Amino acid sequence: MQNPPANEIGARRAYGTMIAVAAMAIALSGLAVVSEPAAANHRQGTLRRLAQVRHRLVGTAIGLPELTTDPEHRIVAAREYSSVTPENAMKWAEIHPEQGRYDFTGADQTVTFAEANRMSVRGHALVWHRQNPAWLTSGTFSRDELIAILRDHIHTVVGHFRDRVRQWDVVNEVVADDGSGLRDNLWLRGIGPEYVMLAFQFAHEADPHAKLFINDYLSETINPKSNFIYDYASLVRAYGIPIHGIGVQMHRFLLLPESAADIEANLRRLSDARFLVWITEMDVAVLLPADATKLADQATVYGEVVTACLRVRRCRGITTWGFTDRYSWIPGEFPGFGAGLPFDESLQAKPAYAAIAAALRG
Ligand code: XIL
Repeated sequence: MQNPPANEIGARRAYGTMIAVAAMAIALSGLAVVSEPAAANHRQGTLRRLAQVRHRLVGTAIGLPELTTDPEHRIVAAREYSSVTPENAMKWAEIHPEQGRYDFTGADQTVTFAEANRMSVRGHALVWHRQNPAWLTSGTFSRDELIAILRDHIHTVVGHFRDRVRQWDVVNEVVADDGSGLRDNLWLRGIGPEYVMLAFQFAHEADPHAKLFINDYLSETINPKSNFIYDYASLVRAYGIPIHGIGVQMHRFLLLPESAADIEANLRRLSDARFLVWITEMDVAVLLPADATKLADQATVYGEVVTACLRVRRCRGITTWGFTDRYSWIPGEFPGFGAGLPFDESLQAKPAYAAIAAALRG
């Protein structure tokens, strides 16, 4: 092989220095825009570019630890993804730690990062039964007081990000696992089932342009729970409540006896009913240790789900719950399982990444 001409070496050196300087700047600033050279290098084949061609967004959840301490993570996130969901920063315990006191620090950092990198933001979540502050869970409130608390929270949080956060998971995991009705939670006990409609109404008042979602798990295929969500969302909308979309979380485990055709059928009926559809929290947990066969099977699941979404008109986005096994909720929540995301712990693309890209290429 011939040696490259001197000016090319010089150019490469300059380019290398530029990247090093940019990486340092990012590391120092905490939350900078990814430098153009680093992003441009990979622009053609990135997931976000491939998804854009198919008129879809491809997203990832991002937690504050990685956002604030891991420049390598930020570079890949900005390069590959066009949508961000704050993993925890907008949950009650974080954003509303004391009654009457809001703390937007982490949420603001996440939204600022997204905007700097032209990524859309999914707000998550305005009502959930987990990660609530003690003042809320152990306080004693009358029905009217609870409604006032819910109104204030939603108006304040959605209002703070008005016209910047385009979608909200207004209610998260509010349906009972057997599909028999709404889940027992503090809002159901304190307000009654109408808390769901109130939450959507309050969110709409605070940002009339935001797309408002009901989000849940184990609702990917056609089953009693997804049937309930389909019927319930249709009914609530028929009452004039602004509910625009259905989020299907898509936390998968390998070997779940569910077929891609079932998933597609469910996404399709939601879309046909004129709901926006979003795959909001996908990961595919494997029993550790991972091996080549498991990762190949995992890649198949990712590819099938992305293809199902692409085939369904109003399925507008696919978000994974993180993108690298370096940061994933799975091992903490399901001991013995892990390796569920498209990048490994060293931020190398796994077979799942290739399968997602191939599905997006069609
Ligand atoms: C998880 C986060 O990933 C963890 O860091 C946190 O400890 C618990 O919550 N469904 C949801 C998400 O809607 O908010 C959850 O996120 C994962 C399950």
